Amino acid sequence: MLRRAYVTLAILLAISSLASAQKKVVCYYSSWANYRTGNGQFNATNIDPFLCTHLIYAFIGANTDGTVKILDSWNDVTLNGYKDFNNLRSKNANLKTLVALGGWNAGSATYSNICNNVALRTAFVTNLYNFVVKWGFNGLDIDWEYPAQRGGIAADKANFASLVRELRAKFSPAKLLLSAAVSAGINSYSTTYDLPSLAANLDFINLMTYDFHSSAEGKTGENSPLYAASIDTDKTMNSDATVQYWIRQGVDKMKIVLGVPLYGRSFTLKSATSNGLGAATVGAGVAGGWSKEAGLLMYWEICYYQMSLTGWTVQWNVAQQVPYAFRSTLWVGYENKQSVMVKGKYAKDNGLGGVMVWAMDYEDFRNLCGGGKFPLISALKANFIA
Ligand SMILES: *[C@@H]1O[C@H](CO)[C@@H](O)[C@H](O)[C@H]1NC(C)=O
Repeated sequence: MLRRAYVTLAILLAISSLASAQKKVVCYYSSWANYRTGNGQFNATNIDPFLCTHLIYAFIGANTDGTVKILDSWNDVTLNGYKDFNNLRSKNANLKTLVALGGWNAGSATYSNICNNVALRTAFVTNLYNFVVKWGFNGLDIDWEYPAQRGGIAADKANFASLVRELRAKFSPAKLLLSAAVSAGINSYSTTYDLPSLAANLDFINLMTYDFHSSAEGKTGENSPLYAASIDTDKTMNSDATVQYWIRQGVDKMKIVLGVPLYGRSFTLKSATSNGLGAATVGAGVAGGWSKEAGLLMYWEICYYQMSLTGWTVQWNVAQQVPYAFRSTLWVGYENKQSVMVKGKYAKDNGLGGVMVWAMDYEDFRNLCGGGKFPLISALKANFIA
């Protein structure tokens, strides 16, 4: 009898420590990737259901009356976007799926208005809950970009904390997950985020530790430097400074998830011969053939262009632990296998709960570059979980 009790106790302890110690590999899927052409086309059929522990479908939106807005009913519903995504769990029962609310293009004003009105906010919480249950997601990821900014108001900080607390109360009985993607701009946190309250009510927090530099600055800079460079005037504009800030605030490290971009930020150099970190630029880099957005290149485009076009120089930026590459006047700061391995190890050594990528459809998911399918997520995961 006693022996059986000990065995039961040991099993229970093992299960609970496993659950609390479960390390997350969180992967966003930008659902519009289904519209990319040729080698760029990506949807749920391209997702390896064993690669990530948590998949997040981007995005849903909100209407001004607090109802949930399906952003693309053709792709999300008619073509079975939500359904195929959630059905990946039939191949891996441990996989968790979430749906992301908001995103950069949605702005801030709609969320600001809803959350500043208790009746609307209460309705919104119920509507979000009903949406998640109806479509069979395991939870919700809130990407309000950002409270008290971009059309928001000062009350957003408290109202966002209330939204999260009320969602937590609604989601907990159903064991649904709740996460948020937050800005890496720690200099604005005093007006945007109530860290202790958010941390208490979220299962995990996705730090968007990227987009630290852009062509608006008129000089080259890395998308996601892990550490500061000597030329940085603001030493907080890097992943390490962001992570350490959250840790210093006393947030449970197991709730902190380090964001890793699977894309580069590109620039057009003023002169092809002045091509280092901080070199003068005249604007964003030319758009990629598939991503079609000036200033951004998907990882697979970068490795594919490096392989198929001559004239590239690749440099390892020792101080910031990320590479950059240039070809004539095109300059790009990005991630490669080496930098994601460094970031995976960093997350592990700092005892973080997870790593996150934006987005899995930016990966070399077809193995066009010869490093295997999903080489970056695999390397990141291997160094984080190993
Ligand atoms: C996903 O892509 C495949 C081709 O790669 C296509 O056959 C399928 O219809 C797509 N699924 C959706 C939901 O559009």
